Amino acid sequence: MVVGAEGAMGSALLAQMQARPEFAMVRGFSRNGLPASAAGASAVGALDVCSESSIAEAARVASATHLPLRLFINATGFLHGEGHMPEKSWRQIDPGHMARSFAVNTIGPALLLKHFLPLLAREGKAVFAMMSAKVGSIGDNRLGGWYSYRASKAALNQIVRTAAVELARRQRESICIALHPGTVNSRLSSPFRKEGLDVSTPEAAAARLLTVLDRLQAADNGGFLDHSGKSLPW
Ligand SMILES: NC(=O)c1ccc[n+]([C@@H]2O[C@H](COP(=O)([O-])OP(=O)(O)OC[C@H]3O[C@@H](n4cnc5c(N)ncnc54)[C@H](OP(=O)(O)O)[C@@H]3O)[C@@H](O)[C@H]2O)c1
Repeated sequence: MVVGAEGAMGSALLAQMQARPEFAMVRGFSRNGLPASAAGASAVGALDVCSESSIAEAARVASATHLPLRLFINATGFLHGEGHMPEKSWRQIDPGHMARSFAVNTIGPALLLKHFLPLLAREGKAVFAMMSAKVGSIGDNRLGGWYSYRASKAALNQIVRTAAVELARRQRESICIALHPGTVNSRLSSPFRKEGLDVSTPEAAAARLLTVLDRLQAADNGGFLDHSGKSLPW
């Protein structure tokens, strides 16, 4: 399953997963629901991470397939919009923008864990991956700024780690992980494109992330990894 399936990363991940023979079914969910022609007949559904009832309904649809959930990727995220850009200074902190960042980047993903972790395959390798961001790393924060995005992704990382501890008590082969895709050309990143910045296409970043996911082992549960599989500081 891919949530955020109309985003740059989400659509690239969905397309590459659909091309793989090992998945019996690949489903995408996006805020507005995908037109069947864009995603293939098996991959249509609406899910807004700010609506718990839509998450619960998507989980009901997924469980009705009676297929074990092997790979769940959350590729939703919010950095700018609704009249706000990321803060350059504490002077720009706005409660509405911060609340929106936490709603999409932290609380919504926590609700995805609540409704979809119980569907994860009980036997064999199964992975629940959340798209986080390196700027959510507290240890790596040298530039400052981006208060709301940084804090909401740091909180997401804590939620991933906490869920990983609980998951390991229930099913030893399952893995819950936070991922950094690198800097990727997308609507989210486009206002910050700079000369000399190493920017990937979503397709290249998705291929690298799927390689990282393929290589994961149970010992990686609870980790925070970048697109090359390297551990990032919390
Ligand atoms: N691009 C980068 O350089 C970069 C770097 C580090 C981390 N990331 C992370 O990677 C992930 C994917 O980002 P991207 O670059 O692919 O950006 P993107 O193309 O803007 O995709 C973000 C997706 O999130 C969805 N979304 C936003 N609010 C939502 C909500 N309430 N419910 C459901 N979906 C919602 C958007 O849906 P709509 O299509 O309906 O608007 C969009 O499809 C994000 O978590 C981002 O923080 C990206």
